Amino acid sequence: MQLSNNDELIHVMDTSTNVWSTIKDIADSGLQEDPFCVCDVSDIIKKHEEWIVKLPRIQPFYAVKCNDSLNVIRVLAALGTCFDCASEAEINKVLSVGVDPRHIIFAHPAKPLSHIRHAAAVGVSLMTFDSECELHKIKNLFPTANLVIRIRCDAAVAKCYLGKKFGCNPEKDAPCLMTLAHSLGLEIVGVSFHVGSGCDDPPVYQKAIAAARKVFDHGLFLGFPMKLLDIGGGFPGHKGCSIDRIAEVVNNALEEFFPDCGTQVIAEPGRFYVASAYTLAANVYSKRELRNEKDGSITSVMYYINDGVYGTFNFILYEPAEVRPIPLKVASPFSGFPTPVVYTVIDEQGWTLLKNKHPMTETHFVIGNKPANLPLGTGSDIINGRATF
Ligand SMILES: Cc1ncc(COP(=O)(O)O)c(C=O)c1O
Repeated sequence: MQLSNNDELIHVMDTSTNVWSTIKDIADSGLQEDPFCVCDVSDIIKKHEEWIVKLPRIQPFYAVKCNDSLNVIRVLAALGTCFDCASEAEINKVLSVGVDPRHIIFAHPAKPLSHIRHAAAVGVSLMTFDSECELHKIKNLFPTANLVIRIRCDAAVAKCYLGKKFGCNPEKDAPCLMTLAHSLGLEIVGVSFHVGSGCDDPPVYQKAIAAARKVFDHGLFLGFPMKLLDIGGGFPGHKGCSIDRIAEVVNNALEEFFPDCGTQVIAEPGRFYVASAYTLAANVYSKRELRNEKDGSITSVMYYINDGVYGTFNFILYEPAEVRPIPLKVASPFSGFPTPVVYTVIDEQGWTLLKNKHPMTETHFVIGNKPANLPLGTGSDIINGRATF
């Protein structure tokens, strides 16, 4: 999805307003016919607090691919997360806000040569692999990298399965790849997996952590300094969902298979952090009634909105999803389909927490989220980004 990034400031809401009243105010102003998103930073803060309570042993490396907005990256950096980057561009974006390269994992197991060179140049040394080809590329371009072998363990139910593309077989392929890495003089420091995005099969984490333990032990046997377990993503993040069951399975499995606190455990949550923070408002610009041919009664009504599968709703094309519209007001005619701008808001409590936490400063905020304070209309400075719902 493309999001317009014409308003980088985070608007501090006073106690009489909230996300919903902000959306209503913008719609009522009549100045914003184009679709827009409101990003609620306070929601991201709550998610982080939830993570710390429920998964206390696991350092989150936010998966930037899920939503690469600078505000999201800055806020998460200020809260203390690290980052999972999948490309040179994502690495640059995260570094641009002042994140230490040692707080990044380059978690794409199949990397273009130039991206590996770039990682070496900027000091992002932690990276995943799952094939011989990747090991040879890394040997040539970044032989001192700290490697994490990605194994495959698929959830029975997920919104987006990743195992067909990434992850080696932990029993058959992993030992051979590790032997090859050893003979090339490379250093493996950990094991990773991703059970599938939007995982609805909590017990799979137990299976995956058990499989990772075996690979970990094989690495120790070969003499590698194994010290990192990366449990990937898969944590749901939409409104009303819970990570309780996954957290219970993960915490128990860590106690069983990695009781040694000397092993650093990380994860790559993406949608968990941002899915519920974003709300889209689109304009209904036309409608059509469908009638029963026999008696002429209305059987259904079709509404046309100025956003779709080539914009914010593109996720519908590749994962099962249900979108529930909430009517705001009667729409006005509209003739274009621009990409949605994002208005970012935060409550006063969140503002107090973040305003002086590196890399955030007071300059990233503006007091007030009334239409008069918001640059309404179509954004001019379009960036590539993705929002998840
Ligand atoms: C390597 C990797 N890490 C993390 C994520 C984020 O996953 P999720 O949004 O399910 O947490 C993805 C998603 O595609 C991924 O490919």
